[in-house]
Amino acid sequence: MSRKTLTFVMLLAMLALLVPAASAAPLQQEGQEYTIAKADWLSKLADKYFGSIFAWPAIMAATNQKHLEDSSFARIDNADLIEPGWKIWIPGEAEAEEFLAAYDPGKPELLFGKPAEGQLVVGSWWTAGGEAEGLNGMFGIYKDKYPAVEIVNATVAGGAGTNFKAVLKTRLIGGDPPDTFQLHAGLEVEGYSPEEYLEPLDDIYASEGLEEAFPADLLTMLKAYGGHYWGVPVNIHRSNVLWYNAAVFEANGLTPPADFDEFVTVAEALKAAGITPFVLGTKDGWEAGHIFEDILAGTLGAEGYNGLWTGDTPWTGDGVAQALENFNLMLSYANPDHSAHTWDSAGEFLIAGTGGMMIMGDWTDGWFTSKGFTGYGWAPPPGTQGIFVALSDSFAMPKNAPNADNASNWLKVCGSLEGQEAFNPQKGSICARTDCDPALFNAYLQSAAVDWGQDAIVASVAHGAAAYESWATDYKDVLTLFVASGDVAAAQAGLQQACVDAGICQ
Ligand code: GAL
Repeated sequence: MSRKTLTFVMLLAMLALLVPAASAAPLQQEGQEYTIAKADWLSKLADKYFGSIFAWPAIMAATNQKHLEDSSFARIDNADLIEPGWKIWIPGEAEAEEFLAAYDPGKPELLFGKPAEGQLVVGSWWTAGGEAEGLNGMFGIYKDKYPAVEIVNATVAGGAGTNFKAVLKTRLIGGDPPDTFQLHAGLEVEGYSPEEYLEPLDDIYASEGLEEAFPADLLTMLKAYGGHYWGVPVNIHRSNVLWYNAAVFEANGLTPPADFDEFVTVAEALKAAGITPFVLGTKDGWEAGHIFEDILAGTLGAEGYNGLWTGDTPWTGDGVAQALENFNLMLSYANPDHSAHTWDSAGEFLIAGTGGMMIMGDWTDGWFTSKGFTGYGWAPPPGTQGIFVALSDSFAMPKNAPNADNASNWLKVCGSLEGQEAFNPQKGSICARTDCDPALFNAYLQSAAVDWGQDAIVASVAHGAAAYESWATDYKDVLTLFVASGDVAAAQAGLQQACVDAGICQ
């Protein structure tokens, strides 16, 4: 018998033994770790897990593949020389079968895994301090595991994805997507026609145990569209935070305002001291919508706010009119050049102490930290005590991603404990996972984690959670006009129309 024929016969034998055993032995769907015990050898394990002593190459190859990404797994050089205590990987049944079907014993190099290579193109809008560092932290973890992969940081600047989202849409439609991209958890995904352009990620949730890693409310939000997971979340952000310059407040004997009346008192005192009371940037067209969602929550309460997105709270009611009045009042204390500022350039006033207060999401905590500024205080914006306006950043995978394997490895890093611990303390967000070490986080983030555990959670509209993208865009556009005009009636009519166009209001 020639060597080639022998190889073929051996392969057939392997498969023949593996397949019938599939129904008899307790075969595993998912892979699992295994620690080598004293009397173990690979064929014995192959027999135990796959019903065939000939399936040992699948275990050897899977373990060596794991070793390339995580050196705590053993590297098996010689199948006959395994040591008690080694951590190995028993592949799932389908993976083992696939390997054995393609395996050629004449090519032993197939037993040694294949390092990931090529590119990983990551699309996001994280260019500001804090968010850029957080992303880099996660890149570091990826690089450790897949050193041969070149990461391309394909950012498009503009907070809340103002510019990024349009660019991405064009790329998806044009069949030229990045390998993975930033996506808010919630209804935002609808804007990308996920059935047509995105991969459902349910398999990654299963293989990585992600349903056990994230809280139930977040899982519901992630599955809100079409019953599939479209993104792997890296964090939880809070939209409703009032940041203040602690030294300025102390020097003027002030404490953060709990309601809108107190806001005016504090703002007047700041104004009298020659300080811009309310620091604002509206350049990118989403910031007014962001602040207003916090004012809506602070005026209507959690339930009233939630009802806006389901049709239970009327946009035509007194509550929304009052919220617009409240916003108008706050705007009267803002820096007049706000349309020339982004959220972070406006934040410079607060750092410099020429500005007193600012309402912005808690990426501001990451930004302050990246600037070495520690003199800030925080409080819920007026009326939002006990309410957590939430959003979450996730990463998604397009259909036909050019480097799909690299993208899927990226999503695994995104969902992992080490990925989230490298990312969030710098990003200024708390982990989406429930098992991150609190000691890694600063005082603000620790307080956010406590609030996330006890507050009423409502969904942000400015950041993709509460409404379809088209409604969220109409909403933000109305608020941008409002900031310029101050016309309460026109804004309320515009908000109602947006709800009608979204098919929620009559
Ligand atoms: C949000 C995003 C945050 C942060 C912020 C400012 O939409 O969820 O992670 O990047 O925009 O750009």
